[in-house]
Amino acid sequence: MSFAAGPKTQNQMEILLNAEVVAHRVHELAAQISADYRGRPLRLVGILKGAWMFLADLIRHMDLEDVSVDFLGVASYGRSTKSSGEARITKDLDQSIEGLDVLIVEDILDTGETFSYLQEILTARQPKSLKAVVLLDKPSRRTRPAQADYVGFTIPDEFVVGYGLDYAENYRQLPDVRVLRQEGKGEKG
Ligand code: IMP
Ligand code: MG
Repeated sequence: MSFAAGPKTQNQMEILLNAEVVAHRVHELAAQISADYRGRPLRLVGILKGAWMFLADLIRHMDLEDVSVDFLGVASYGRSTKSSGEARITKDLDQSIEGLDVLIVEDILDTGETFSYLQEILTARQPKSLKAVVLLDKPSRRTRPAQADYVGFTIPDEFVVGYGLDYAENYRQLPDVRVLRQEGKGEKG
Protein backbone atom coordinates (compact mmCIF):
# COMPACT_ATOMS: atom_id res chain seq x y z
CA MET A 1 0.00 0.00 0.00
CA SER A 2 1.13 3.57 -0.44
CA PHE A 3 0.08 6.98 0.76
CA ALA A 4 -0.99 9.47 -1.88
CA ALA A 5 -0.47 12.59 0.20
CA GLY A 6 2.77 13.97 1.63
CA PRO A 7 3.95 13.43 5.20
CA LYS A 8 1.28 13.47 7.85
CA THR A 9 1.59 15.89 10.70
CA GLN A 10 2.95 14.42 13.91
CA ASN A 11 -0.32 14.68 15.81
CA GLN A 12 -2.07 12.49 13.22
CA MET A 13 0.01 9.62 14.50
CA GLU A 14 -0.59 7.80 17.73
CA ILE A 15 2.43 7.38 20.00
CA LEU A 16 3.17 3.72 20.65
CA LEU A 17 6.37 4.16 22.68
CA ASN A 18 7.23 7.59 23.99
CA ALA A 19 10.79 8.91 24.17
CA GLU A 20 11.14 8.22 27.91
CA VAL A 21 10.01 4.62 27.57
CA VAL A 22 12.39 4.07 24.65
CA ALA A 23 15.31 5.68 26.52
CA HIS A 24 14.69 3.55 29.60
CA ARG A 25 14.64 0.32 27.61
CA VAL A 26 17.73 1.30 25.60
CA HIS A 27 19.58 1.83 28.91
CA GLU A 28 18.52 -1.63 30.05
CA LEU A 29 19.67 -3.23 26.79
CA ALA A 30 23.01 -1.41 27.01
CA ALA A 31 23.51 -2.71 30.56
CA GLN A 32 22.64 -6.27 29.60
CA ILE A 33 24.91 -6.25 26.54
CA SER A 34 27.76 -4.70 28.54
CA ALA A 35 27.46 -7.46 31.15
CA ASP A 36 27.42 -10.17 28.48
CA TYR A 37 30.47 -8.85 26.61
CA ARG A 38 32.50 -7.72 29.64
CA GLY A 39 36.24 -7.96 28.91
CA ARG A 40 35.77 -8.80 25.22
CA PRO A 41 36.21 -6.49 22.24
CA LEU A 42 32.85 -5.94 20.53
CA ARG A 43 32.08 -4.83 16.99
CA LEU A 44 28.66 -3.25 16.55
CA VAL A 45 27.26 -3.52 13.04
CA GLY A 46 24.53 -0.94 12.60
CA ILE A 47 22.04 -1.58 9.83
CA LEU A 48 21.37 1.58 7.84
CA LYS A 49 19.43 3.48 7.77
CA GLY A 50 16.84 2.57 10.38
CA ALA A 51 19.21 1.70 13.26
CA TRP A 52 21.37 4.82 13.43
CA MET A 53 19.46 6.60 16.21
CA PHE A 54 19.09 3.42 18.26
CA LEU A 55 22.80 2.61 17.86
CA ALA A 56 23.82 6.14 18.87
CA ASP A 57 21.82 5.90 22.09
CA LEU A 58 22.77 2.29 22.81
CA ILE A 59 26.53 2.76 22.44
CA ARG A 60 26.75 5.80 24.68
CA HIS A 61 25.18 3.84 27.52
CA MET A 62 27.37 0.76 27.12
CA ASP A 63 30.05 0.25 29.69
CA LEU A 64 32.70 -1.57 27.66
CA GLU A 65 36.38 -0.78 27.14
CA ASP A 66 36.63 -1.94 23.58
CA VAL A 67 33.69 -1.22 21.28
CA SER A 68 33.95 -0.41 17.60
CA VAL A 69 31.29 0.45 15.04
CA ASP A 70 30.72 -0.30 11.42
CA PHE A 71 27.65 0.14 9.25
CA LEU A 72 25.95 -1.99 6.66
CA GLY A 73 23.36 -0.46 4.38
CA VAL A 74 20.46 -2.73 3.52
CA ALA A 75 17.33 -1.78 1.60
CA SER A 76 14.22 -3.88 1.76
CA TYR A 77 11.03 -1.87 1.53
CA GLY A 78 11.13 1.14 -0.76
CA ARG A 79 7.93 3.14 -0.88
CA SER A 80 5.70 0.57 0.70
CA THR A 81 4.67 -0.69 4.11
CA LYS A 82 4.85 -4.26 2.90
CA SER A 83 8.03 -6.24 2.73
CA SER A 84 9.14 -7.01 -0.80
CA GLY A 85 10.79 -10.10 0.62
CA GLU A 86 14.01 -8.97 -0.98
CA ALA A 87 16.99 -7.37 0.67
CA ARG A 88 20.07 -5.91 -0.96
CA ILE A 89 23.27 -4.25 0.24
CA THR A 90 23.41 -0.52 -0.43
CA LYS A 91 26.62 0.03 1.55
CA ASP A 92 29.03 -2.69 2.60
CA LEU A 93 31.03 -2.83 5.85
CA ASP A 94 34.29 -0.86 5.82
CA GLN A 95 36.20 -3.51 7.75
CA SER A 96 36.49 -7.26 8.01
CA ILE A 97 34.60 -8.95 10.86
CA GLU A 98 36.56 -12.20 10.66
CA GLY A 99 37.35 -13.54 14.15
CA LEU A 100 35.41 -10.77 15.93
CA ASP A 101 32.51 -10.81 18.36
CA VAL A 102 29.85 -9.07 16.29
CA LEU A 103 26.53 -7.64 17.38
CA ILE A 104 24.07 -6.64 14.66
CA VAL A 105 22.07 -3.55 15.64
CA GLU A 106 18.72 -3.46 13.82
CA ASP A 107 15.69 -1.23 14.10
CA ILE A 108 12.96 -3.82 13.64
CA LEU A 109 12.45 -7.50 13.02
CA ASP A 110 9.35 -7.91 10.89
CA THR A 111 8.98 -10.76 8.37
CA GLY A 112 12.51 -11.90 9.15
CA GLU A 113 13.60 -11.73 5.51
CA THR A 114 16.17 -8.96 6.04
CA PHE A 115 17.37 -10.55 9.25
CA SER A 116 17.89 -13.96 7.62
CA TYR A 117 19.76 -12.33 4.77
CA LEU A 118 22.01 -10.46 7.22
CA GLN A 119 22.75 -13.61 9.20
CA GLU A 120 23.65 -15.46 6.05
CA ILE A 121 26.01 -12.87 4.58
CA LEU A 122 27.67 -12.01 7.90
CA THR A 123 28.11 -15.64 9.00
CA ALA A 124 29.91 -16.26 5.69
CA ARG A 125 32.51 -13.68 6.80
CA GLN A 126 33.43 -15.89 9.75
CA PRO A 127 33.03 -13.74 12.86
CA LYS A 128 33.95 -15.39 16.16
CA SER A 129 30.36 -14.89 17.26
CA LEU A 130 27.29 -13.25 15.76
CA LYS A 131 24.36 -11.94 17.79
CA ALA A 132 21.71 -9.35 17.21
CA VAL A 133 19.87 -6.65 19.09
CA VAL A 134 16.65 -5.22 17.68
CA LEU A 135 14.73 -2.31 19.11
CA LEU A 136 11.37 -3.62 17.92
CA ASP A 137 10.02 -7.06 17.13
CA LYS A 138 6.79 -7.87 15.26
CA PRO A 139 6.74 -11.67 15.72
CA SER A 140 3.25 -12.03 14.20
CA ARG A 141 4.62 -11.09 10.76
CA ARG A 142 7.32 -13.76 10.32
CA THR A 143 7.56 -15.50 6.98
CA ARG A 144 10.67 -17.32 8.15
CA PRO A 145 12.05 -18.26 11.55
CA ALA A 146 14.15 -15.47 12.99
CA GLN A 147 14.91 -14.46 16.55
CA ALA A 148 17.07 -11.70 17.96
CA ASP A 149 19.25 -12.25 21.04
CA TYR A 150 18.15 -8.95 22.56
CA VAL A 151 14.75 -7.36 21.94
CA GLY A 152 13.72 -3.89 23.06
CA PHE A 153 9.96 -4.16 22.60
CA THR A 154 7.61 -6.73 21.14
CA ILE A 155 4.93 -4.79 19.26
CA PRO A 156 1.67 -5.63 17.46
CA ASP A 157 1.28 -5.77 13.70
CA GLU A 158 1.29 -2.03 13.00
CA PHE A 159 3.51 -0.01 10.71
CA VAL A 160 5.60 2.24 12.93
CA VAL A 161 7.80 5.25 12.29
CA GLY A 162 10.13 7.50 14.27
CA TYR A 163 13.32 6.97 16.29
CA GLY A 164 15.12 6.22 13.02
CA LEU A 165 12.35 4.24 11.34
CA ASP A 166 10.87 5.67 8.18
CA TYR A 167 8.03 5.52 5.78
CA ALA A 168 9.41 6.54 2.35
CA GLU A 169 12.31 8.33 4.12
CA ASN A 170 9.99 10.43 6.27
CA TYR A 171 9.58 10.58 10.06
CA ARG A 172 13.02 9.22 11.02
CA GLN A 173 13.60 12.34 13.16
CA LEU A 174 10.72 11.73 15.59
CA PRO A 175 11.99 11.08 19.14
CA ASP A 176 9.30 8.47 19.81
CA VAL A 177 7.81 5.47 18.00
CA ARG A 178 4.45 6.20 16.36
CA VAL A 179 1.88 4.19 14.46
CA LEU A 180 1.30 5.17 10.85
CA ARG A 181 -2.15 4.14 9.67
CA GLN A 182 -3.66 4.54 6.26
CA GLU A 183 -6.90 6.45 6.54
CA GLY A 184 -10.17 4.83 5.56
CA LYS A 185 -8.87 1.30 5.21
CA GLY A 186 -8.38 -1.54 7.59
CA GLU A 187 -5.50 -2.88 5.58
CA LYS A 188 -2.38 -3.86 7.47
CA GLY A 189 1.16 -3.06 6.32
P1 IMP B 1 11.80 -7.69 7.29
O1 IMP B 1 12.77 -8.07 6.23
O2 IMP B 1 10.39 -7.84 6.83
O3 IMP B 1 12.03 -8.34 8.63
O4 IMP B 1 11.90 -6.13 7.46
C1 IMP B 1 12.91 -5.52 8.14
C2 IMP B 1 13.10 -4.11 7.68
O5 IMP B 1 11.89 -3.54 7.14
C3 IMP B 1 13.49 -3.24 8.83
O6 IMP B 1 14.89 -3.17 8.95
C4 IMP B 1 12.85 -1.92 8.48
O7 IMP B 1 13.74 -1.13 7.73
C5 IMP B 1 11.66 -2.26 7.64
N1 IMP B 1 10.42 -2.29 8.43
C6 IMP B 1 9.71 -3.37 8.83
N2 IMP B 1 8.64 -3.02 9.55
C7 IMP B 1 8.67 -1.68 9.61
C8 IMP B 1 7.82 -0.69 10.26
O8 IMP B 1 6.81 -0.98 10.93
N3 IMP B 1 8.20 0.59 10.09
C9 IMP B 1 9.29 0.98 9.40
N4 IMP B 1 10.12 0.11 8.79
C10 IMP B 1 9.80 -1.21 8.90
MG1 MG C 1 13.25 1.14 6.27
